[in-house]
Amino acid sequence: MTQSISRPSSVAEKDQVLREKVFAAVEEYYQFKFANRQFIPGQTYVPVSGKVFDELELIKLVDSSLDFWLTTGRFAAEFEARFAEWMGVKHCLLVNSGSSANLLALSALTSPKLGDKRLKPGDEVITVAAGFPTTVNPIFQNQLVPVFLDVNLPGCDIDVDKLDEALSDRTRAIMVAHTLGNPFNLDAVMAFAQKHDLWVIEDNCDAVGSVYNGKKTGTFGQIATVSFYPAHHMTMGEGGAVLTSDTRLKKILESFRDWGRDCWCPPGVDNTCNKRFGWQLGELPEGYDHKYTYSHVGYNLKMTDMQAAVGVAQLDKLPQFVKKRAENFEFLHKKLQDLQDVLILPEPTPNSEPSWFVFLLLVKEDAPLTRNELVRHLEEKRIGTRLLFGGNLVRQPLYQGWNYRVVGELTNADKVMHGAFWLGVFPGLTEEMLTYVSDTMHARQEMICRGGFRDNPGNTKTRYISKPAPPGYISAMTFIFFIKYINWLSIITYLFYLSI
Ligand SMILES: Cc1ncc(COP(=O)(O)O)c(C=O)c1O
Repeated sequence: MTQSISRPSSVAEKDQVLREKVFAAVEEYYQFKFANRQFIPGQTYVPVSGKVFDELELIKLVDSSLDFWLTTGRFAAEFEARFAEWMGVKHCLLVNSGSSANLLALSALTSPKLGDKRLKPGDEVITVAAGFPTTVNPIFQNQLVPVFLDVNLPGCDIDVDKLDEALSDRTRAIMVAHTLGNPFNLDAVMAFAQKHDLWVIEDNCDAVGSVYNGKKTGTFGQIATVSFYPAHHMTMGEGGAVLTSDTRLKKILESFRDWGRDCWCPPGVDNTCNKRFGWQLGELPEGYDHKYTYSHVGYNLKMTDMQAAVGVAQLDKLPQFVKKRAENFEFLHKKLQDLQDVLILPEPTPNSEPSWFVFLLLVKEDAPLTRNELVRHLEEKRIGTRLLFGGNLVRQPLYQGWNYRVVGELTNADKVMHGAFWLGVFPGLTEEMLTYVSDTMHARQEMICRGGFRDNPGNTKTRYISKPAPPGYISAMTFIFFIKYINWLSIITYLFYLSI
């Protein structure tokens, strides 16, 4: 723990008694405000993601607020220790977002303390084109050069067959996400990295709890990152973490996170090194305060203790969250089996057990409806959808004119951009909600089969429009047409008559 609040026991007891009173009120408030939400199909929105919590998160949040420590503190220390253990790594450093975690992870590899292994401007980092921008942005930010590879479908994992082609004499690192929870081929990537002496950063933001060859993702590369944004496997509102088992890297990461300073004292603590005024570094005078000595171009990316307190409560629920995500994924996968002539369903990478972030669907190119049309329809029916982030990132406006390399055609990244979308599988979704999602998808398919919709004009195949529309359906449509248009016609004629 970083903050030590030592008080006479009577003060401590009084403190505890008052806190308990507040916690009881918080519990009552939780019951009043958040418990027992009702689901009404077609009316209640089915979100793609969301916070799943109970009174325990609120109580921890209030507990940390009553400390009024505000900056990173006792809850952060507890979370870091417990999460590192759960993940199976030596060190966890909390930061204020998954994007900050990515920035920190790659920036740390530019440290002069790494000697010849440090990344220098112009060095190349292998990544993928289909994904989230902040996996890639730290590469540009550090004046390095991203080398974009395509992904496999439907897993959206890096196409490892292109790794050899991607290699140049400037290749130094691989930074790739386990996209949407599905692990990439770690056997191939780690073997390639070992052969060519490359750093590996696993962006594990979408994949907490995913397993590859019996081992958690985020434990293979030298550094991994995690996001605790509400959409993710567990949340702190905003938040992220950097994981490593390399103690030298941990010290460098800490320095970059905490203003770039050389000192490693936690907030509120002085002289951990026992020679605060005994150093001579750079061209600073002898004995210059170590607290204000800087060895890296750092930032302040720390997390507040209130966020960490929520994380502590969420961590207790994490194994259940992972299990429920897997169940929801399986449920949807079974339900949507019969739509495979129109949709490509998600499949895990061989040797992996994904902790699915979402349920990714690809609308087939020859399907009688487009991805956009299907997504619009689902949203109209109060079902949340999202795209696979930035699609093919090299087509995004922000990267135009930047220095990067592309290997191959990025055909699948383009397919993702045009045809993919995802539905939620987060633990807040019930079977009732997922059944409604599945029924709505099937009802849509029914309409297409009856010839009610032909949204994909490029499609010349008719195999989906094979069922003849029943006579009752045709007369109903004629009646609707009559009501809808003939009335309007009489009104317009009448208005026209009035005007002359
Ligand atoms: C793969 C990946 N990396 C990084 C991030 C960034 O995380 P954050 O939103 O916490 O900055 C995300 C966000 O969803 C992500 O999906």
